[in-house]
Amino acid sequence: MTPEKAKELLKQYGQEHLLKYFDELGEEERAGLLGQIAGIDFKKVSGLFLTASGAAAKDSEEHRYEPLPFTDKKDLSKEEIASLEKKGGEIISNGGFAALTMAGGQGTRLGHNGPKGTYDIGLPGHPSLFEIQCGRLLAASKKFGKTIPWYIMTSRENDRETKEFFKANGFFGYPEEDIKFFVQNMLPMVAFDGKIVLDRKDHVKEGADGHGGVFAALKSSGCYADMLKRGVKWIFIGGIDNVLLKLCDPLLVGFAAAYGAKIAAKSLVKRDAREGVGVFCRRDGKPYVIEYTEISEEMADARREDGSFLYGDAHVLCNLFSIESIGAILDSGDGLPYHVAKKKTQFVDEDGTVTVPEKPNAYKFEAFIFDAFEYFGDIAILRVDRESEFAPVKNREGSDSPETARLMYEENQRRENEQR
Ligand code: UD1
Repeated sequence: MTPEKAKELLKQYGQEHLLKYFDELGEEERAGLLGQIAGIDFKKVSGLFLTASGAAAKDSEEHRYEPLPFTDKKDLSKEEIASLEKKGGEIISNGGFAALTMAGGQGTRLGHNGPKGTYDIGLPGHPSLFEIQCGRLLAASKKFGKTIPWYIMTSRENDRETKEFFKANGFFGYPEEDIKFFVQNMLPMVAFDGKIVLDRKDHVKEGADGHGGVFAALKSSGCYADMLKRGVKWIFIGGIDNVLLKLCDPLLVGFAAAYGAKIAAKSLVKRDAREGVGVFCRRDGKPYVIEYTEISEEMADARREDGSFLYGDAHVLCNLFSIESIGAILDSGDGLPYHVAKKKTQFVDEDGTVTVPEKPNAYKFEAFIFDAFEYFGDIAILRVDRESEFAPVKNREGSDSPETARLMYEENQRRENEQR
């Protein structure tokens, strides 16, 4: 993009300030900034800003919420479980299954400097979060006699480091040709006055577009085409930060296939009313996850007569999508809605000084993967045990910390060894 073209484009959207310091920049810096400007969808960003600044009106929209039915694994007989596992196992053995890890996040909350997947929770042998997931997939590939294609979503912030980490570790013994990395998109942050943030004179402040960006990124990277080519029918999509994540569970695959839904998900019972997890529900008749940041106190506290939470099934980023559902999401036109967060971000002020604000000063836009559920009439929910499936590493200390995850991991291994 030439500076003239960039000026014209920026004028159209009232963002001329992005080139305010252009004349002071060196050649490389100029090229970098122009490259960023060329990659921004200004029409989309101005639409997002308008929605964000009018968010108060949107928030007051009335919705009808109801609980979403689920199947509790505890209520399934041994025979039912065996039969579903057999069905799922056949799909996996026949190459109809792939796993996807969303690893676009950094370990900022953990005080870790690098991709979250490279974090070590202090288990014997010091496996990283990536190595733990890889171990599970290697074991499943062996059990089902078929290497499971593994797609790993990174962000522009951590893509290079993630790939280097895998390379330096010999891909943890996984066949290199069956691991595909792909990068999620970014969106600029927008100050409360509608101006896109420059965090340096030569740099637009951009942030990852949320894990809901996974679908668009699968398509633009060619990974969706790769799945079709390989004959993949079901794709498990999980996060990087749960050390008990079962990336390849034949029960979930068999359950989804038997249920006849296009999407299945695991849930587990919310620990307490304020736990930082989204919960499944129906919103206006459609399957939906209401985030812990967005749920009303009344809904979070509501209980059934037996004392259980009415909206107690936590969403733990443990979702299984059929390839048709991904196709339908990609065909749906507008894409997923964006959630808005107010964040503090460094900016270049009027005088050209780099300033770090004390209060939030800009909007960040993120799409959430579970907003795709609304496109479907029904999803199959399998409620599982927290002890054997969910030990997240979110905080540096206290609950959901490396220490709690390590203890749960070790306890789970002890139980599994006993059962063998
Ligand atoms: C998330 C879920 C919440 C769930 C909880 C369970 C959201 C918005 N909420 O909360 O419903 O109950 O986990 O642990 O996700 N990621 C990307 N790219 C992004 C953003 C995130 O790949 O742009 C990945 C992260 O690397 C991580 C996962 O998504 O693997 C979760 O992200 P995080 O921001 O940690 O979500 P939580 O707020 O913990």
